[in-house]
Amino acid sequence: LKGGSLAGKSVVVTAGGTREPLDPVRYLTNHSSGKMGFAVANAFKNAGANVTLIAANPLITPPSGVNFIRVETAAELLAEVKQAFVHADILVMAAAVADYRPAKVANKKIKKTADNQTMTLELVRNPDILKEIATIKHPGQLVIGFAAETNDLISNATKKIQSKNLDMIVANDVSQSGIGFNADNNQVTFLFAAGKQIKTNVESKAKVADQLINIIATQMQNQ
Ligand code: C5P
Repeated sequence: LKGGSLAGKSVVVTAGGTREPLDPVRYLTNHSSGKMGFAVANAFKNAGANVTLIAANPLITPPSGVNFIRVETAAELLAEVKQAFVHADILVMAAAVADYRPAKVANKKIKKTADNQTMTLELVRNPDILKEIATIKHPGQLVIGFAAETNDLISNATKKIQSKNLDMIVANDVSQSGIGFNADNNQVTFLFAAGKQIKTNVESKAKVADQLINIIATQMQNQ
């Protein structure tokens, strides 16, 4: 990877998993650690880009030398991404965003009662951040999503390129242990809007991130 291949470029990377509160002590979330997004942010920094890293509840320490913003919920993530995207050349959405949040957030701890053996939670849809970004995207801005899937990886990821108007998606099989969520290694397929596919080997998240940044740098040079 050439040191300054993305010098002068502004990049926004999201990482981690959103937390959707139920009451003051509980929340809904997922298994995202922030490792993949942090590796992507670090690889952009090494390529000379100016990096804003927006992280939802990461389990690890952020890389130095990036503009670091911490958020909790999907709504907070949306607000920060929208604001940062205005000045960005590239957005990589590696965050695992909750599709739904509790319809009501109780202001006191929800208590069990003797007669309530079951409990039903009402959830409402969260905004799709990438779909909102698609509505404000200018030509020349690159938007890259991630697709974490347990089945039908390539067909599900391909549909998301279209529905979210992406330039590229990083398809990630999260059904196998040792790669994907919370693991140190990963294996992904880069899928381009034009149909091309590149599958990586199982390797460290840092190496997967370097390959992503190389692909992006080449794409930026050619446009
Ligand atoms: O639809 P799905 O969650 O599988 O799509 C994954 C991609 O969409 C990721 O890049 C994720 O960050 C993004 N996403 C989003 N807003 C949501 C859900 C997912 O931007 N509400």
